Amino acid sequence: MVRGLAHESPLRSRIPMALFNRRKTTIGLDVGSGLIKVCVIDHGRGEPELAKVIITPLLADAIVEGEVMDPGIVTDAIRAALDQAGVKSRDIVTAVGGRDVIIKKIQIERVKEQQARELMRWEAEQHVPFDMESVELDFQILDPEGDGMEMSVLLVAAKRELIETKMRLLTDAGLNPAMVDVDAFALHNAFEVNHPDAMNGVVGLINIGHEVTNINILDDGVPILTRDITVGTRRFREDLQRERGLGADEADALLQGYDRSPHLEAVIESRGEEIAVGVERAAAFLASSTRSASQLRAVYLSGGGARVPGLADALGRRLRLSVELANPLANIRVRDGALDGLVTDEVAPLLMLPIGLALRKAA
Ligand SMILES: Nc1ncnc2c1ncn2[C@@H]1O[C@H](COP(=O)(O)OP(=O)(O)OP(=O)(O)O)[C@@H](O)[C@H]1O
Ligand SMILES: [Mg+2]
Repeated sequence: MVRGLAHESPLRSRIPMALFNRRKTTIGLDVGSGLIKVCVIDHGRGEPELAKVIITPLLADAIVEGEVMDPGIVTDAIRAALDQAGVKSRDIVTAVGGRDVIIKKIQIERVKEQQARELMRWEAEQHVPFDMESVELDFQILDPEGDGMEMSVLLVAAKRELIETKMRLLTDAGLNPAMVDVDAFALHNAFEVNHPDAMNGVVGLINIGHEVTNINILDDGVPILTRDITVGTRRFREDLQRERGLGADEADALLQGYDRSPHLEAVIESRGEEIAVGVERAAAFLASSTRSASQLRAVYLSGGGARVPGLADALGRRLRLSVELANPLANIRVRDGALDGLVTDEVAPLLMLPIGLALRKAA
């Protein structure tokens, strides 16, 4: 598991934990621009067990391009989702992402963790194009047992304002963000648990959401690159409406259905191309920046857009790679009734991020 943000990290909440914290469940809250997702995982019995899933739609345009346009609508929807989940705790784990978050694998001289912490600000200045005054940093030594002169470090930097805005939204909803994760790491952690076979070589995990597609590249199980492109099911739907003359409901039914259709093929052609180019660019950037010769071996899809009938096949043909659907429930025990009212196969792809959040154990 990528440790994510270190215990002392300012990215974690500054709010102290309760004195006797015996809670064994973690509530992962994913505030997507299309759907709010809550996953509750019980860590009390050794193996994580998914205890509850709630998915609630968010009104259109409440969140646009990652920005909360209408905080009242969003906080109400978050509150409703948590009430529905039946959780009493207000401690949740959430994440930030987008262009104000950067992760980067760097090489530095081998030093102890404490010393690395001191070096990190200086290192970050070389690698992160943000003003150091307004950034929260964290890192993880990837080969702590190694004995070479250098060590690999995964550096993560997030603009402070991004974290503060997210924290404010959640405290306004009456919640306590016990931990602020990074989207790419949460996706990675859920992926790792469920697809251990994907942890060698270079593979892509592509989370196609409502507005945004996150492209994450893993090298031998280490998430070394994350990019976002603004394509998602929203664009697919708009294309179906504008170019194919479908109504919004008709378009949604096609996108969330099981059958291919000429309408879908047409929009997959153009939007699929955008996603494919995004993946190719990310892979090419990696190859040039790390001088690694390794090629992308496989691609896995998650997010609501992963379900668009025919999209995975089209990407596979275009990228000439194996492209398959990732399943965040493949290796996770699901409590009876956790998915009440939901069709498991239909919602599983949407849960990669919130499951990854809920996999974090309360400190
Ligand atoms: N069973 C389902 N119920 C609702 N929407 C679904 C379902 N299956 C697929 N979808 C599609 O998935 C989309 C939402 O996907 P997802 O939850 O991954 O996005 P999001 O996290 O809300 O968006 P983003 O990450 O871009 O902000 C919906 O807009 C819809 O088109
Ligand atoms: Mg999402």
